Amino acid sequence: MAVFTATTSAPVNIACIKYWGKRDTKLILPTNSSLSVTLDQDHLRSTTTSRADPAFEKDRLWLNGVEEDIKSGGRMATCISEMKRMRKELVEDKDASAAPLSKYFVHIASYNNFPTAAGLASSASGFAALTASLAALYALPSPPTTLSLIARQGSGSACRSLLGGFVAWNAGELPSGLDSNAVQVAPETHWPDIHALICVVNDAKKGTSSTSGMQRTVETSALLQHRIKHCVPQRMADISAAILARDFDRFAEITMADSNQFHAVCLDTAPPIFYMNDVSRAIIAVIEEYNRVALLPENGGKRKAAYTYDAGPNAVIYAPAANMKEIISMIVRYFPQQDPFKDPFSLFGGAGPSSGALVSGFNENVAKVWEAGAVKGLIHTRVGGGPRVLGSEESLLGDNGLPL
Ligand code: DP6
Repeated sequence: MAVFTATTSAPVNIACIKYWGKRDTKLILPTNSSLSVTLDQDHLRSTTTSRADPAFEKDRLWLNGVEEDIKSGGRMATCISEMKRMRKELVEDKDASAAPLSKYFVHIASYNNFPTAAGLASSASGFAALTASLAALYALPSPPTTLSLIARQGSGSACRSLLGGFVAWNAGELPSGLDSNAVQVAPETHWPDIHALICVVNDAKKGTSSTSGMQRTVETSALLQHRIKHCVPQRMADISAAILARDFDRFAEITMADSNQFHAVCLDTAPPIFYMNDVSRAIIAVIEEYNRVALLPENGGKRKAAYTYDAGPNAVIYAPAANMKEIISMIVRYFPQQDPFKDPFSLFGGAGPSSGALVSGFNENVAKVWEAGAVKGLIHTRVGGGPRVLGSEESLLGDNGLPL
């Protein structure tokens, strides 16, 4: 008997122009467009296997080995039923010999290769991997931009993880949301020099979720309305142009301004939302000083790094590959590491970053040296490609349709 199964992986993305605010909470339609960099799946990814079988008794889902409830009418259920609808319309209604997979229940198993404790949002890569795996299972002819309409209904930022490289999510205008999709501004091959350092900041307390936080901002922040009307449209155009021109200085300027405005809008929310903490702000001070020195005419007059923060205290530092060694040494100096730095690009030849090294002219008093563990981990990665279809040897579901 035929076995209907597919396994795919999908990447994490980190926005340079932030999505914050919904105009439709059910369809997940944003109040503004956003733009992100897709990160390399060699380092961070979600892998999902889905399987359709006439013998299954209901749709079931396992996340990192633990079965989760699929709430009726919830985001997960919406994505699964939308994908079944597409299977029926685009495949079964057109070809009478196609297996009636849209009528079968599915079992889905998903696994993140990064610990939840790392504080990285897994909903973007997770819903992108789910959508990509069902698209492969159902042999849909749809391009990533069409699939992004489904992933968006799982988690807004997930729509951008359907594509590699530099990706814009168009806010769109239609009430149906059919024009609120993700498009590639440039593939990863256009500017492979963009690297990223994720600084995992120690954070004990559970913060406000993106979903509830942004709703509160929409309801109470006057600054958000200014941002939507007068800042984001120009920034989207300017950062797209900077990416096409591989202009890192401009890319960095816009990325940092937008991260800071997003956190300002959070502060402008009633009651205010704080995502960054003192360690996050110390990282900003260090990168700002690094750029101040770089901007001096004698040093070339261009920024060398850009920080950005999502709905949590972790920093993501974007920089051209050539600057990463200097940046990691500087971060390790101010934020000593407990565990050895995993050096995936072999920058330090097995010796590990030497703390103490700062560029000439750097004012070392911009931040104090923190206790070990204030930044509990560093992940060095770079821009990468979109979802991948994997072989059956990577399947997360066994022949009995249960997680392996
Ligand atoms: C700060 O996509 O997690 O990371 O659509 O409610 O699931 P929901 O929210 P989510 O919000 C992400 C917000 C952000 C900015 C961004 O990724 O653009």
